[in-house]
Amino acid sequence: MSADSERLRRILRIKRDGGALEGGDQAWLLERAGRGEVEEAALATLLASIWFHGMEAPELAGWTRGMVASGRSLDLSSFDAPKVDKHSTGGIGDKVSLPLAPLLASMGMVVPMISGRGLGHTGGTLDKLEAVPGVRTELGEDAVLDVLRDAGAVICAQTRDVAPADRTLYALRDRVELVESLPLIASSIVSKKVAEDIDALVLDVKAGSGAFLTDLDRVRELARTMVELAEASEVRTSARITWMGRPLGRAVGHALEVEESRAALRGEGPPDLAELVEAFAVDLAVSSGVAADEEAAVALARERIESGAAAERFERMLHAQGATGEALPESPDVHELTARDAGILGFGDVREVGLAVRELGGGRSAPSDAIDPAVGVVWERAAGDRVDAGDLLCRVHHRGGRGLEAALERLERAVRLEDSAAAEPPLLLERIEPGAAG
Ligand code: URA
Repeated sequence: MSADSERLRRILRIKRDGGALEGGDQAWLLERAGRGEVEEAALATLLASIWFHGMEAPELAGWTRGMVASGRSLDLSSFDAPKVDKHSTGGIGDKVSLPLAPLLASMGMVVPMISGRGLGHTGGTLDKLEAVPGVRTELGEDAVLDVLRDAGAVICAQTRDVAPADRTLYALRDRVELVESLPLIASSIVSKKVAEDIDALVLDVKAGSGAFLTDLDRVRELARTMVELAEASEVRTSARITWMGRPLGRAVGHALEVEESRAALRGEGPPDLAELVEAFAVDLAVSSGVAADEEAAVALARERIESGAAAERFERMLHAQGATGEALPESPDVHELTARDAGILGFGDVREVGLAVRELGGGRSAPSDAIDPAVGVVWERAAGDRVDAGDLLCRVHHRGGRGLEAALERLERAVRLEDSAAAEPPLLLERIEPGAAG
C-alpha cells in the first residue's frame, strides 16, 4: 500500500472512532480533495464520521484553514478601503444582499460578495441578480477585481480557485444527505468568506419556519461557531439571529425581488427590509472603522440612500457585471389571491411560500433545473394586518397557469387568519459578538 493510501486510511480510522484530526492531516486531505484526487467513497465516509462525531473547536478551526488553503484567496491588497461582507443562511424573500452590497460601497467599503444559488424553498442571490438582463455572476478573479474597481461591490459565484475543497465536499454532501451538520456548514461558509480577503464580516443567521435551521438552540450554536471560526482567521465578525417566520419584504421571486431592492435603495422599500439592510450596514461600518459609532453609521447609511448614491452604485455594479439596461422580465399573467375569512394575517409554515414560487417555475428541485425569473408572489398585506373576507392578500405572477393550482394550495397552507394577533417576534432577535461562545 502506498504511503498516501495508508495516510488516508489512518485519517478515516481516527474520525470513524471519534478522534480529532490534526491540522497537517486535514491540510493534506483537503488539498487533494480540492484537486479531485480523493476517492468519493473515502470522502463520503469521512463526512459521515464528522456528521456523527462532530468536531472539537481547534479541530474545526484547522479544517476551515485547510479548506481556505486548498485554493487561492482573492488578493485585495490594492484596495485601501476596508473590505467587508455579509452572509445569510437564507430565507423566503431574503434579498438583503442586493441593496446592502451597493449601500456599503457607497459608504466607503469594498464588498467582494461571493454568493450561492437557490435550491429547495429559498432563492439564491446569484439567481436573483441574474434576473437582470445581461448580468453575469460567474466571473474570474480579474473580472471580480475590475468590477470592484469600478463599483466598489461585486456579487458573484465562488471562483474556480476559492476554497475548491468546499466545492467538492458541498456537492458530495448534497448528494449523500450530509448537508445539515453544524461543523460542515460553518466551515463551508466561513472558508469562502475568509478566502475573500475581507477585514470584517456580519452573519445573518435566520430562525423560524422559513429558515434553513428551525431550532433556535441550533441556530445560536451555528452563529456562535461561525463567529468564533471567522475571528480565528482574523476577520472581525459578529452575527445577528433574525426572524424568518414571515416573508422578508413583500416580494418573493427573482425579478420581483430585484425591483423591491431598487425600491429599498430609493428609500421606498418595505420597512422590514429597510431595517435589516440598515442594521447590517451599521454593524459593518462600525466594525470596519468607516464610522466612529452607531449613530454616525446610521446617519451615513441614511444619507447615502437619500442622496441616491447607494442606488447609483447598484446600477453601476449591474452595468459592470454586464447589464444591458433592458427592463426586468415580467410574467404575462397575474392571479389575485383573496382572504377566505376575516382575521389577522399571520404565517404558519412560511417555507410554503418559497415552495409556491418553486411550483410556478421560480425555484429548483435539482441543481441543474432552469429558473423562470419573472414569476413569484407579491404580498399586498403584511403579517399582523387585519383583513376582511375577500380582501386581496397577494398577487401571484405566473406564466400561463404553470404550477398555479399547486402554488395556490401552498399559499393557502402558509397563511393563517386568526381572531387575535399572535405576538410576532421582532425581526432582530439576538446579536452574537466574538467571545460569547458558550
Ligand atoms: N451554505 C454553504 O455555503 N455551505 C453549507 O454547508 C450550507 C450552506
